[in-house]
Amino acid sequence: MLDAFDDLPQVRNLREHTYAGLGDTVVDVGCGSGRAVGELAARGARAIGIDLDPAMIEVAIERWPTGTFHVADLTALPLDDGSVTGYRADKVLHTLAEPERAVAEARRVLAGNGRAVLIGQDWDTFVIDSDDPELTRTLVHARADGMPSPRVARRYRNLLLDNGFVDVTVEVHTIVWTDAACLPMLANIAGAGAWLDGQVARARNDRLFVAVPMFLAVGTRAD
Ligand SMILES: C[S@@+](CC[C@H](N)C(=O)[O-])C[C@H]1O[C@@H](n2cnc3c(N)ncnc32)[C@H](O)[C@@H]1O
Repeated sequence: MLDAFDDLPQVRNLREHTYAGLGDTVVDVGCGSGRAVGELAARGARAIGIDLDPAMIEVAIERWPTGTFHVADLTALPLDDGSVTGYRADKVLHTLAEPERAVAEARRVLAGNGRAVLIGQDWDTFVIDSDDPELTRTLVHARADGMPSPRVARRYRNLLLDNGFVDVTVEVHTIVWTDAACLPMLANIAGAGAWLDGQVARARNDRLFVAVPMFLAVGTRAD
């Protein structure tokens, strides 16, 4: 599911955009299968990937041998104070009940004037065309309510400002998805059933429409 999303040309461009200004030593937390780490290493950075899931780290090491990877919790990074110039958290803070702990940890590991990049979707704002808009809204909100911080993306700016970052900017980039590659993501939201069958039929007839606003916040660690 992540590969299908991360392979979209719009998502590739957005990911590239997040690499600007991260400096020569970058940690990517909740790195998953390590794509950002591999891409940052290819640009000459010392890139470190952190993920709690050993299976993800195993895949990351295999796919991206130029990166350095650790199994660890992003709220307790195995990094010294002030040891990195850039910090990325891509599609991960929604999994934390207290995302401010992640941002405080970002502040600890970043050097003065280091840059933190938070990016992800707001789980209440998936836009999905369907024949039953009310059920769609119910399914989207039910999925959101099942996670610890579904609306953290709209809080990125305040999280950064409240935890020692300055010059915070926010952008929203909407990803539009119209092909069958998005069906696993829709299955993840709705589970099996008539609603998903309707989306499968739409994919078959080239009538799928999904839009996902991605929130990108960037802040500089106050000296
Ligand atoms: C949705 S995936 C995103 C992966 C990658 N950042 C990307 O954009 O493709 C979220 C990842 O965060 C990891 N994760 C969740 N909670 C974490 C935590 N507390 N510490 C470190 N990693 C965590 C998960 O294991 C998963 O690989």
